[in-house]
Amino acid sequence: MKTGIIGSGAMGSGIAQVLAGAGHEVTVYDNNPEAVLKAEARLKDTMALLTAKGKFTQEKASGLLSRIRFVPDFDALADASLIIEAIVEKLEVKQAVFRELEEIASPECALATNTSSLSVTAIAAACTHPGRVFGLHFFNPAPVMQLVEVIPAAQTDRDRIKRAVSWVKEWGKIPVMARNTPGFIVNRVARPFYSEALRILDEGLADPATIDRAMTHFGGFRMGPFALMDFIGHDVNYAVTESVYRASFHEPRYKPSFTQKDLVEAGFLGKKAGRGFYDYRPEAPAPVPSEDGALGQMIFKRILVMLINEAADALHFGIAEREDIDLAMTKGVNYPKGLLAWAEEIGVGECARMMDELYDFYREDRYRCSPWLRKNALQKAP
Ligand SMILES: NC(=O)c1ccc[n+]([C@@H]2O[C@H](COP(=O)([O-])OP(=O)(O)OC[C@H]3O[C@@H](n4cnc5c(N)ncnc54)[C@H](O)[C@@H]3O)[C@@H](O)[C@H]2O)c1
Repeated sequence: MKTGIIGSGAMGSGIAQVLAGAGHEVTVYDNNPEAVLKAEARLKDTMALLTAKGKFTQEKASGLLSRIRFVPDFDALADASLIIEAIVEKLEVKQAVFRELEEIASPECALATNTSSLSVTAIAAACTHPGRVFGLHFFNPAPVMQLVEVIPAAQTDRDRIKRAVSWVKEWGKIPVMARNTPGFIVNRVARPFYSEALRILDEGLADPATIDRAMTHFGGFRMGPFALMDFIGHDVNYAVTESVYRASFHEPRYKPSFTQKDLVEAGFLGKKAGRGFYDYRPEAPAPVPSEDGALGQMIFKRILVMLINEAADALHFGIAEREDIDLAMTKGVNYPKGLLAWAEEIGVGECARMMDELYDFYREDRYRCSPWLRKNALQKAP
């Protein structure tokens, strides 16, 4: 199949590698000719590295490279059967590109967006034939991460979605269906990992190193929230939080933190800037977390129950099926367990009780117990 990618940045190049790896012919277009050249050189380096490490045979690497062409001209996308857009995260820019796409693409061509936080329905609305538009949300790095969220717009034809799901499977990825709502599954359900950690910090209950240790040591998470935010970059992580908050009509659970806003304004964007919550300069002393077990357990349980509550709410409001919510968090962000399975392990009633305890103390809407937890706790009560 002939496929096209718009945008040769981190995501566009990664997705191109996935599609070419699955045997498709891929044309990658970017409106910045320098970005095109850089992406091509980067892919060649990646292939050389994978071959040197013995992960790819020479044959596989050269076969993959021969199926991808990087181009600076838009018209080269005209004969594709599927085009995936992975350009800058701005609604007006994406809408303009989709409008232009309809002028060159064949009427059968499926058009997908890799947006992380914009409404797929709003992007589709720019098209004359919005029935062929849907979201395909890959995770970074696309060749490594197994999950792809498939998001129908309000206008999408059902058979287009069926085909999208089978393509994702053909590419060796795991599709999960998500409703077109802010953050889809992963970026919505994962919010408390950051926001509750920031809240604990802002309340002066513990420092970043202690909170990070609680989540890795007691929770088995691969990285703590502060190390992860520093890794992602505060510009990116703050922008997603703000966008989900605004798009969800100011849901208090998604409220951004002034502490993180301050880091963005100061340019302390995390690891890439040498400074974020942690100081990455060579001479900086290593942070020392508290090893107070009771404090660590309190932090871990509080963040975990907020994550479980968010997953329960996503299920309650039909954002996705139960299995897909758990798959999304284990495969999209490498959580050690699915959150709804984790809720069963702890006991749904216990989760509801923990939420009520937080709510009783703070009296803030942010700590309200999800109706799904409440309903299931009542059903399971002796
Ligand atoms: N980076 C991530 O972790 C991640 C994960 C999932 C989804 N996404 C989404 O994927 C998309 C791309 O993100 P990225 O991180 O690859 O960005 P990036 O900045 O690395 O790359 C974007 C590329 O798009 C090009 N571009 C911008 N406007 C264009 C236009 N009008 N026409 C053609 N090319 C244009 C730029 O020159 C650039 O090369 C965004 O929608 C983002 O939200 C990002």
